[in-house]
Amino acid sequence: MGGDEAKALNSSVPPAGGGVVMDEHEFQRWVDLLEKRTGVVVPPSRRLFLETNLRMRLQELGYRNLARYRDECLVGPKGAKEWAVLVDRLTVHETRFFRHPPSLDLVRDQLLPAYLEQGASEAFHAWSIGCATGEEVYSLAMVIDEFTSRQEQSFYFGITGSDVSPPALAVGRQGIYASSRLKEIPEKYRQEYCERFDDNHFRVADRLKRRVGFAVLNLLDVQRQPMTRLDLIYCQNVLIYFPRVRRHELLNHLVTCLKPGGCLILGAGEVTLWSNPLVQRVSSQRTLAFRRKAQGEELGGQE
Ligand SMILES: C[S@@+](CC[C@H](N)C(=O)[O-])C[C@H]1O[C@@H](n2cnc3c(N)ncnc32)[C@H](O)[C@@H]1O
Repeated sequence: MGGDEAKALNSSVPPAGGGVVMDEHEFQRWVDLLEKRTGVVVPPSRRLFLETNLRMRLQELGYRNLARYRDECLVGPKGAKEWAVLVDRLTVHETRFFRHPPSLDLVRDQLLPAYLEQGASEAFHAWSIGCATGEEVYSLAMVIDEFTSRQEQSFYFGITGSDVSPPALAVGRQGIYASSRLKEIPEKYRQEYCERFDDNHFRVADRLKRRVGFAVLNLLDVQRQPMTRLDLIYCQNVLIYFPRVRRHELLNHLVTCLKPGGCLILGAGEVTLWSNPLVQRVSSQRTLAFRRKAQGEELGGQE
């Protein structure tokens, strides 16, 4: 072992249990691996999170050697299966129903009326990126469905939720949540779209579930996803984990997936210093949203 490695080993955080040691060198290898495979950067301040979750997984599997486990995650179908579990443990899935009300208000008060004004000739299709366990998808579905129910002529809509974590998406597909979460949902939507499942859980009404679908998608492979001419791309609390250059690359691709008039809604303050000639910023102080310009309008330059 070289001097640096020995020094790093001595300075490593003592294991929480199970005797698994992560030295500086091993930490960096995990950070690099996660960034290479998911785009997510783990800053030094998140080291404890990474270490604790890795240790727990190793204990579950009865491994004591992190480097060996890492090597095994990288090869063959067994490795791919384990990686799918691990990526769920190493990414942050914190989410809530109606997490950012101003963004949902923008969908209801500006985007949907504009879609109707343009004739609503095609179904309204939305994509929620990094949707975790589905709360964002169902919040959007509630807002859109409630809006259609108030129109003389209802329109068809569909929402695709995607995430890199298969276990998180499995929760979304089930659409069953703890009753304690009901308080996150405004009363009128709760009444309409949430049904008692058992003493401690509620489920999302089937007629809403029929409008949503969930798909595993790593944002790094976004160029390969087939959706185009979208009315709405909703991506909140995901890009913050990516380095700025990669954020901008992703956004430049995402705007090409919108149809003219379609909107990209990000988390307020999540992206700075980005512009693209295909879109213009929606003027709203409490949201960060961009509308794709109509054909021809693009020539007008950046905003
Ligand atoms: C903090 S949650 C945000 C959930 C939801 N959008 C919200 O705002 O409440 C971030 C989600 O991004 C997902 N994620 C992280 N890296 C990803 C990647 N490379 N591709 C797709 N999803 C990713 C995580 O799995 C996680 O579910």
